[in-house]
Amino acid sequence: MKILVTGGTGFIGSHTVVELINAGCEPIIVDNLSNSNIGVLDGIEKICGVRPKFYEIDCRDKDALDKLMEENKGIDSIIHFAASKAVGESVENPLLYYRNNLVSLINLLELMKKHEIKNIVFSSSCTVYGQPEILPVTENAPIQTALSPYGNTKQICEEIITDTVSADGNISAILLRYFNPIGAHESAEIGELPIGVPQNLIPYVTQTAAGIRECLSVFGDDYNTPDGSCIRDYINVTDLAKAHVVAVKRLSEKLNKKPVEIFNIGTGKGLSVLEIIDVFQKVTGVKLNYKIVGRRAGDIEQVWADPTWANTELGWKAEKSVEETLLSAWRWQEKLGKK
Ligand code: NAD
Ligand code: WQD
Repeated sequence: MKILVTGGTGFIGSHTVVELINAGCEPIIVDNLSNSNIGVLDGIEKICGVRPKFYEIDCRDKDALDKLMEENKGIDSIIHFAASKAVGESVENPLLYYRNNLVSLINLLELMKKHEIKNIVFSSSCTVYGQPEILPVTENAPIQTALSPYGNTKQICEEIITDTVSADGNISAILLRYFNPIGAHESAEIGELPIGVPQNLIPYVTQTAAGIRECLSVFGDDYNTPDGSCIRDYINVTDLAKAHVVAVKRLSEKLNKKPVEIFNIGTGKGLSVLEIIDVFQKVTGVKLNYKIVGRRAGDIEQVWADPTWANTELGWKAEKSVEETLLSAWRWQEKLGKK
């Protein structure tokens, strides 16, 4: 199966390319390298013994995408990871996010029709739920007003896909709403490559443990949670990658029950920031320098998935423990280097 993977040298995309190759698929990567580097292909090759086809293309460039699809006939599905994803940056520069995240998707959907590509798997996010009223959160939970332009682009993209699929009976879609992807491939050949100061918790933890950052700031311990710090559903990135393989196979084999299917991709277990720090110290033996500071604007208090629908209907389940996952993040950081 030929799978077009946009954003395929990125954090989740690269891990998904590995799992696609392991599953006997032929991934074709499109990436503009705006938030990743070409060296990721070396890591993929070291893991799989296969160097996937790579096109340095911006998904906002419709003509370039059109030419790629002309040269690569028979693409079965698209997995669309390519997007800007920094919440804070989206508040400062909303138009960059609306242009990048919406135009890229619209280009792909228009070209799918022309090139008779039938299936798309879209990278959505639990951010569409905001702070759910009921936890754990199911796919039927109400979509809440987005707290950032980034989150809004995910909601709008879901709507664009839904409207396009209902207008064009030949396209099917699966929307995967990721919770908090963390960790790195067990080989430590690929992992998360945050550019600049990490915004997300785990890369900041590993860089602090490596001495690259002085001290981890825990954004608040006065939330209405058992230890006062925020709770999230941290999912191993390889487990998440495997969900995409299951999704494209489901679409390719026309096992989907509806033209647009939505799945929460999480472990079903919530962990607090302080619990994450505790587990990280235990599995790595590294003492983490951290301090409690004020809350971060826009943070929701607690969210974790009810993954029952993905487990039973999609036939996917998170397998790796948080201990194994945090250790993989540390091994990757050790590979990247310490101060
Ligand atoms: P990432 O930044 O590591 O990967 C995205 C990749 O897309 C990068 O390699 C970047 O260079 C590329 N890209 C961006 N704009 C592009 C464009 N216009 N044309 C071509 N390539 C482009 O991010 P990630 O963490 O791997 O996230 C992948 C997807 O999953 C994104 O859509 C993100 O919104 C979504 N997501 C991420 C998380 C998370 O916590 N990481 C959670 C939920 C959803
Ligand atoms: C996790 C927890 C922080 C950093 C974001 C996006 C979401 C998705 C995943 C794209 C929170 C706390 C963090 C730090 C801390 N991305 N924290 N100190 O905020 O759940 O989700 O990334 O789709 O859309 O919103 O992830 O890793 O930033 O934070 O205390 O230095 O760690 O307050 O409770 P988040 P995160």
